[in-house]
Amino acid sequence: MKEINLKSGDVLIIRKALPEDATEILQYAEQVSGESDNISYGPGEFGMTVEREQKFLQSLQGSKSCILILGLLKKKIVSIASMSGGKRKRIEHLTGLGITVRKTFWRQGIGSEMMQFLIDWAQQSKIIRKINLTVRTDNIGAIKLYEQLGFLEEGLNSRTLQINGKFYDAKMMGLEID
Ligand SMILES: CC(C)(COP(=O)(O)OP(=O)(O)OC[C@H]1O[C@@H](n2cnc3c(N)ncnc32)[C@H](O)[C@@H]1OP(=O)(O)O)[C@@H](O)C(=O)NCCC(=O)NCCS
Repeated sequence: MKEINLKSGDVLIIRKALPEDATEILQYAEQVSGESDNISYGPGEFGMTVEREQKFLQSLQGSKSCILILGLLKKKIVSIASMSGGKRKRIEHLTGLGITVRKTFWRQGIGSEMMQFLIDWAQQSKIIRKINLTVRTDNIGAIKLYEQLGFLEEGLNSRTLQINGKFYDAKMMGLEID
């Protein structure tokens, strides 16, 4: 767990998600699904039941290569970020990263703090040696955030998202962990 004083004066708590957070996590997912077209699901498309989410969160407890963290302001979830590592030996050093912040709280430093928490966790894991992510090429804010943390552009994936019949390309970005 980590407590951070934000520029706004609010205190952000970052902690690992627990099975009992499942219901609020699904409510959060539904809220952020309608706040941008930069993630892989829209309203009503998250497709997870509370029971499955609880099992998933249970499966993460004690994991050294997969983690889901919550950013909380006044006990309400305002951000979720996760990393999911490879299951087989040859790819267990690789992890994919995803992050969202509730729109009302953008530009307060929450995304940066959540990312730094995951990077620190990856460094301490001794297993993760590379963090990969993909980001829509027109998601300028997120790209800037990742670059500020040392992520480098590694290439381009075409047609990564299809929204209302339109395709969107994504940059592949990565951070080596040593
Ligand atoms: C991308 C996202 C996680 C950033 O979260 P955040 O809490 O707003 O990020 P921060 O406040 O820590 O921003 C850190 C820096 O990133 C850059 N940045 C972030 N959002 C930006 C924006 N919309 N425009 C320009 N720069 C931006 C800025 O340099 C910012 O520093 P500054 O505010 O001091 O100028 C958030 O906008 C979000 O959840 N977006 C929707 C989902 C999404 O795009 N997820 C990533 C998918 S790959």
